[in-house]
Formats: sequence, C-alpha cells, structure tokens
Amino acid sequence: MSKNLVHLISQTEIVSTTKRLALKIDRDYQDRPLVLVGILKGSFVFLADLVRKLNIPLENIEFMRLSSYGSSMMSSGRAKITMSPPAEAIAGKDIILVEDIVDTGITTDTAIQYIQNFQPASVRLCALLDKPSRRQVPVQIDYLGFTVEDLFIVGYGIDFDQKYRQLPDIYYLEEE
Ligand code: PRP
Repeated sequence: MSKNLVHLISQTEIVSTTKRLALKIDRDYQDRPLVLVGILKGSFVFLADLVRKLNIPLENIEFMRLSSYGSSMMSSGRAKITMSPPAEAIAGKDIILVEDIVDTGITTDTAIQYIQNFQPASVRLCALLDKPSRRQVPVQIDYLGFTVEDLFIVGYGIDFDQKYRQLPDIYYLEEE
C-alpha cells in the first residue's frame, strides 16, 4: 500500500511559531537558569531550532530517549526509557522537556514522572504539536506550537518507519 505526502505546516509557519515559543520561554526564565531535555529522536530538529531562537543563556541541554511503540506499552501505559540524563543534571534545576508531538501522552507522561524522581526545581513541557484526540493520559503542555487532527504526521524530525525526519516542512501520510 503506497502513501502520499500531504503538506500540512510550512517552514515559515514553523519558524514564526518557534519564535513565539522562544519569546515566552525567554520571558518566563529570565532570571532562572534553564535546562532543556529533548525527547529523542523526534524532537532533534525542533530542539535545534528552538535553542537558536532563545536569548536567555541555557544552563544545559540534555536528552532522553523513550520507545513508545509495541504492545507492552499499550498494556502498561508506560514507555520504555532507553536513555536518560544523569541525576545531577536534573536535581534542583528548572527543566523544560521538549517534544515534537504529544499523541497518547504516554511518552511525555513517562518522561515527566521519571524526571520528577530526581527532584528538579520545576518541570514544564514544550511541544511543537499536540494531537489531543488520541490522548490516553492527561498531559499539560505549557508551551504549545500547533494542535493537529488525528493524522499520521511526518517531517521536521517526525518519522514513519524512520523515514521523512529530514523534511523541513510538516506533512501527513494519506493512503492511496
Ligand atoms: C513519537 C514522538 C513522541 C511520541 C508521542 O516518538 O516523537 O515522542 O511518539 O507519542 P505518545 O504521546 O503516544 O507517547 P517515537 O516513540 O515514535 O520515537 P522517535 O521519537 O524515536 O521517532
């Protein structure tokens, strides 16, 4: 079964939205050293663009990797953590988790709960895309780019079978 790429969000829209989010983060963390934690792999493009639009000096950039697919996740409501920042990078720090997309919410919720174990000063969430129609676990998104319908999103870091991450725009896949 072949799939068509259908254009959804342009680079121009992504740039202006990322600027808007960066401005808000700049204002909120003016006097608070901030640590960003990118959720791999999907967030790598968004994170790279977001950090270059921030004016505040970041204390650190860390990464976490979780695997959100597989039947085990569906039954447990948990994603598997396969890479995480060292405890000392989190303890006592103001953290923003950076996600490309929140779908069921399981990945983000797992990441937030894990980070909370290390007693950060605060944890907030920045997500480029939100697909609320698919939510299984409630998630509060403090800095949100776009809300999208229940579509198979690819591009700008987001994959289908590891492909399409390199596309500069955001698309959805439509079955022919
Ligand atoms: C995707 C995406 C989010 C997560 C959202 O990652 O990047 O991290 O799924 O889904 P959820 O809200 O239903 O948990 P994926 O697990 O596909 O890994 P990847 O980022 O390495 O592509």
